[in-house]
Amino acid sequence: MSRKPFVITGILIVLLAVVIPAWVFRADADPERGETEVPANLKAGQTRFVENCGNCHTLYSAGTYSNFGPNLDQKLAPAGTPTGPDAKSQKEGTYAQVLSAIEKGYDDPSVPGRMPAGILAGPGAREVADFVSQTAGRG
Ligand code: HEC
Repeated sequence: MSRKPFVITGILIVLLAVVIPAWVFRADADPERGETEVPANLKAGQTRFVENCGNCHTLYSAGTYSNFGPNLDQKLAPAGTPTGPDAKSQKEGTYAQVLSAIEKGYDDPSVPGRMPAGILAGPGAREVADFVSQTAGRG
């Protein structure tokens, strides 16, 4: 009896069991490593977010999971967030909110903990605000 069918079956099994799941896994984000695919213009902000904000905040698009501060997907773009034309002004509002939180800090007295001011400034702060406002809640 020829061994060929076994070889072919073996190759098929490797394909199904290893290659395809690996591909699917890569296509999906790897939350542990902050590798969610974002447009090239948001990459620098994503990296800065992971380095400066990820210790305290969950944000799916950055692959960060911490609950010291609020979950930014939920806080900034809860379910029911507009899509289409309204989404643009919603993102602009979020941009301003995030930039203000970064530059001035934020302290809601009814929530334990506070967001420290001045973690980033200037272009770095704007990059992060851009990244967060474009991607929050859009995992
Ligand atoms: C030391 C932990 C810590 C770090 C680091 C941190 N935050 Fe926060 N952040 C908090 C906490 C705590 C709150 C909630 C404060 C409150 O509601 O009183 C918060 C709140 C926020 C809010 C919500 C503000 C609002 O309007 O409700 C935004 C947006 C935010 N952080 C963005 C960021 C960004 C962007 C970074 C990185 C530049 C960052 N945070 C870094 C702890 C942190």
